[in-house]
Amino acid sequence: MPEIWVEKILDEPELYILRIDDERIKYFEATWDIPEGITYNAYLMKTGDAVVLFDAWKKDYTEEFLETLRKLVDPKEITHIIIHHTEPDHSGAIPAVLEANGYRAQLIGTTFAKRFMEGFYGEKVVENFYTIKDGEERNIGGKTFRFITVPWLHWPDTMITYVVEDKLIFSCDAGGGYGIPEAIDDSDEEVVKRYLPHVTKYIVTVIGHYHKYIVQNIKKLKSLGIVEEARMILPGHGLIWRKNPMRIFEHYERVGAGIPEKDKILVIYDSMYGFVERRMEVVIDELRKHGKKPVVYRFTDKEAPAVSDILGEVPDSEAIIIGASTYEAEIHPRIRYTLYEILDKANYEKPVLIVGAFGWAGVAGKKIETLITRSKFDLVDVVESRGMPRSEDEEKLREGVRKLVAWAG
Ligand code: FEO
Repeated sequence: MPEIWVEKILDEPELYILRIDDERIKYFEATWDIPEGITYNAYLMKTGDAVVLFDAWKKDYTEEFLETLRKLVDPKEITHIIIHHTEPDHSGAIPAVLEANGYRAQLIGTTFAKRFMEGFYGEKVVENFYTIKDGEERNIGGKTFRFITVPWLHWPDTMITYVVEDKLIFSCDAGGGYGIPEAIDDSDEEVVKRYLPHVTKYIVTVIGHYHKYIVQNIKKLKSLGIVEEARMILPGHGLIWRKNPMRIFEHYERVGAGIPEKDKILVIYDSMYGFVERRMEVVIDELRKHGKKPVVYRFTDKEAPAVSDILGEVPDSEAIIIGASTYEAEIHPRIRYTLYEILDKANYEKPVLIVGAFGWAGVAGKKIETLITRSKFDLVDVVESRGMPRSEDEEKLREGVRKLVAWAG
């Protein structure tokens, strides 16, 4: 049974978190390995004559959501339901909430959100839907709710809510992360440190395709002055940020911009029979000679790391080294898939060195070179040769690493 958290976050306005820890999930969006799990966070505010629900949980946990909600309020008393984003990890339980509510509550969201809710759950769900304009303010229960669109964080439908008097940002996906933190907020530094790598992995795998919008949208929120003054950031996944609310958006900005951690070099390779691996030993040795810290992921006949974990390593790497075998006149399938996802989700201006090995004809190196030159990444060199590397091949590999190190700075 997943753990459920119902905690009062504030007395005035009366605000609660409703969080469920989904440790049963294996593949987020049926794709991304997340052994670390994920939480779904909804919030309930009682203010004046209003009872406002902010998002909900995934459909699988509808019964648990209604049961948890009933501990705080009779669902019939909910006056407004704010739909920040319609992806069903947040909206899945909404139809059942509306039914329990007798369809009294007004839904609030963007035009896209209305369209998507209707597509997912039918016309009845959107019969009482109020469509916001970007920046619009509404008085709800004596508080000023400002709705700000943040398109592509994570879908075109997405918005955040800023409660002006209390300086609260309800941010849904933005500011969220994978993982099941042992606390509800950022007050314990150890919890935060363990959690942040899961945030990076979440950003890349979920929002990475749109990562330029991360920087754009945070810039927009900063220009409105609400990020600096926020008292609390309340995301739809993971920790609430109230000790240092700025920190999570700064983290998002760094990931969005691909700011590197000093000396970190990501090394990814396949090796079927050890030929690529022998080359990568040379590469790693040369990296260490230059004081670099290689982070290595390898696909062999004994191990296959999760591509989601590899993606999470890209944003803060200074550079990437890709080692690949030629396989049936193609890039080795595992590297092909990994590379495809990197180029889609983690396409940054970072230097890349390509290392290839082949039995009778080198194809992988050239194909990767074509893909890299069409991306934002900067191609430093391609070092590809047949069979076991000779001493001249080793020298070329070391030279390639030296060029990469010089490029990365
Ligand atoms: Fe957490 Fe894009 O949904």
